[in-house]
Amino acid sequence: MSDQKLPPDQMQPATRALDAGLAPDPVTGAIAPNLVASVNNTFTPGTAGFSAEGADLTEQPYLYARWTNPTVRALEERLAGLEGAEDALATATGVAAAAAVFLTFLNAGDHLIVSEVCYAGVYELATRILPDLGIAVTPCDLTDPAAVRAAVRPTTRLIHAETPCNPILRLTDLAALSAVAREAGVLLSVDSTLATPVITRPLDHGVDLVIHSLTKFMNGHGDALGGAVIGRKDLISRIRSRAGVYLGATLSAQNAWLILRGLDTLYPRLRMASQTASELTGWLARHPAIARVTWPGADDHPQREIARRQMALGGAMIAFQTRQDPATLAARMADRFRIIHYAFSLGHQRSICVHIGTDEIQRSTFRMEGAALSRWKDWAGEGVFRLSVGLEDPADLIADLSRVLD
Ligand SMILES: Cc1ncc(COP(=O)(O)O)c(C=O)c1O
Repeated sequence: MSDQKLPPDQMQPATRALDAGLAPDPVTGAIAPNLVASVNNTFTPGTAGFSAEGADLTEQPYLYARWTNPTVRALEERLAGLEGAEDALATATGVAAAAAVFLTFLNAGDHLIVSEVCYAGVYELATRILPDLGIAVTPCDLTDPAAVRAAVRPTTRLIHAETPCNPILRLTDLAALSAVAREAGVLLSVDSTLATPVITRPLDHGVDLVIHSLTKFMNGHGDALGGAVIGRKDLISRIRSRAGVYLGATLSAQNAWLILRGLDTLYPRLRMASQTASELTGWLARHPAIARVTWPGADDHPQREIARRQMALGGAMIAFQTRQDPATLAARMADRFRIIHYAFSLGHQRSICVHIGTDEIQRSTFRMEGAALSRWKDWAGEGVFRLSVGLEDPADLIADLSRVLD
C-alpha cells in the first residue's frame, strides 16, 4: 500500500473503523499502532504554559500524558472517526466519561435531566453525588418528549440519555429528544455503549456528546477498562481540561492500545453477535419457559419504528423474562451453563448472562414509585435476565440455554 491515504468520506464505515487516525510509523513503517508508554515529551522552553485551562492540544499535544499521549490520541482520533465527530476524549472508565461530562457542564445551582433508566452507576452518580454538589437532578422518562419539555427549568444545562438503555433495552428517540434539547437551549449527551457506532451514530441525530464505556463492545475482549466522550472540538476541549487534566480521569496508554486493537474487529463482532442475537431471540420467544423477550431488532419490539430510524442492527443485548422462579433459574445457570458465563459485565467476545431483579435494583438504585415504577414493570416485570451475546456458535448457545430452560 502506498502512503497516499483515502479521505475518510471515501471509505465505508467498516473500513474507516480500521483506519481512522492510523498511519504507518514514519521511522519503522510499522502498520499496527505503536504502544507509546512515555508520560512526558520534551518541548522547547517557553512554548508551553503551566495552566491546563483550555487544553486544546494544538500547541503541545503530548506535553504530559494526563492531557493525552500518542497512543491515547490515536484511540481518540479513531473514536472521533467512528462517530463522525470533530474530537474525542478517552477516559479511565465509562463512569469517568459520564462524570467528566456532568462535572464540566454542571455547576452548583444548575439542573440536570437524567434518563429514569440508565446504567446503575451513572444513575447513582447523577442522583446521589451531584445533589451533594448543589446540582439539582430530575430523573425523567425520556421516551416522552412532553415529559422532558415539562421537566426543563431555566437552570437546566444538560439532558443525559442512554439508548438502548441498560438493562431493559427501552429505546430513546434521539432526533425527537435532540429537538427538545435544542428548543430548550441545553446540551444533550447520550450513553451509546450498548449501540456502538456500528449500530447508531448519535451525532447524526442531533446529539451533542456521545459517551461510551469502552470496557464493553468497543474493546470487546473483557480485558481493559476505558471510556470516552465524543463530540464537537470546543466541548471536548472543555471536558479535557476540567475532567482529564484536573480530575485526572485519563486513560492509560496500555489500555488505549488494547482498545485500539479491539476496535479493529468492532464491525465484524457486532454484525456476528447481532445475527446470533436474532437467532436466540427467535428461539427464546418460542420456548414455553419464556414469558417475554426484548431485543431491539425484533419486529415485536414496542419501539420498532425508532429502532428502524436510528439502529442499523438489533444489537447484541437481549432481555428476557421467564415463567419459572428467576432465583432458581439463576442458580441453575450458574450450575449448568457450560459456555455462557453467569457474570455482570457485557459486550465481550464471550456470552454473559445475569438476572436483574426488579425489587433488588429498585431498592439499590432507581427507587421508583407510581407511574415510573409501572413503566419499569411494563418492560421488566419482576426482573429480567440480561444476555450479552458473544461470538460463540449460536447452536452452542442454544444448547446451553436448553440445559437451563428445558
Ligand atoms: C451503558 C453503560 N454505561 C456505562 C457503564 C460504565 O462503564 P465502566 O464500567 O467502564 O465504568 C456501563 C457498565 O456496565 C454500561 O453498561
